[in-house]
Amino acid sequence: MQNNTFSTLFVGQNLIKLLAVDSTNNFLKRMVSNSEPLPEGTVIMAENQYEGRGQLGSKWHAEPGKNLTFSILLHPSFLSLGDQFNLNMTISVAIQKALLGITGAGLTIKWPNDIYFGHKKMGGMLLENIVTGSRIKACIVGIGINVNQEIFEIVLQQRASSIFQILHQHVDLVALLAEVCSHIEAGYLKLKGGNYEGLRNEYLKSLYQFNVKANYRQNGEIIEGKITDVSENGLLSLETSDGLKTYNFKEIEFIQP
Ligand code: BTN
Repeated sequence: MQNNTFSTLFVGQNLIKLLAVDSTNNFLKRMVSNSEPLPEGTVIMAENQYEGRGQLGSKWHAEPGKNLTFSILLHPSFLSLGDQFNLNMTISVAIQKALLGITGAGLTIKWPNDIYFGHKKMGGMLLENIVTGSRIKACIVGIGINVNQEIFEIVLQQRASSIFQILHQHVDLVALLAEVCSHIEAGYLKLKGGNYEGLRNEYLKSLYQFNVKANYRQNGEIIEGKITDVSENGLLSLETSDGLKTYNFKEIEFIQP
């Protein structure tokens, strides 16, 4: 176990720093499948993640040495598969809280679990489960946060942001990681305590475009709607001129204003 100065009980206490890796999620998954004895809360962080993976098979780009790309090993065996979205909400709320202390207002969670500043993405997460029967044996929580990156490639410039672009100053990556880990641990312990309703309220309170009329793309068509709720299992409720509709992740796309 590598020592560090995190003031947590377990998240980040075993911190493995890599200079370069394809993907921290892949690395941690390989360790788990090789039955390496890893304590819960183990964090793998990489300075250069050259094949980072995002949601829906997308790629996660992060300039080496400037951003946080890391994965946390959790064992949420207390959660049934049907309750899985609670862990997504827990991690989203924790990251939003940790970053809010640095960037101030303007930081929201875009459903289902992107971190936004204004209308631009500042972070994302990829939770991958290892399931036995109907229980989650292990969850690899992969997190990418744009921290000190000053410029993004042209295709991302309108859609991505970083802490540097907001503060115009650099932030210490390990100190920020410690802050994020501490919020994740606090949220995870609360989740273990079973306060699902409180968690959902916190998530909704921070939700991007909550209760605001905006345009969405659905089946190639643009529709106007207002987000009114996200269900326990992660479905988005949209109030439209045709009534209340619910969507899962792949069924609806946000349109950037
Ligand atoms: C997304 O918003 O599409 C999810 C992005 C998740 C990126 C992180 S970076 C660390 C971890 N390793 C990966 O390959 N992906 C996640």
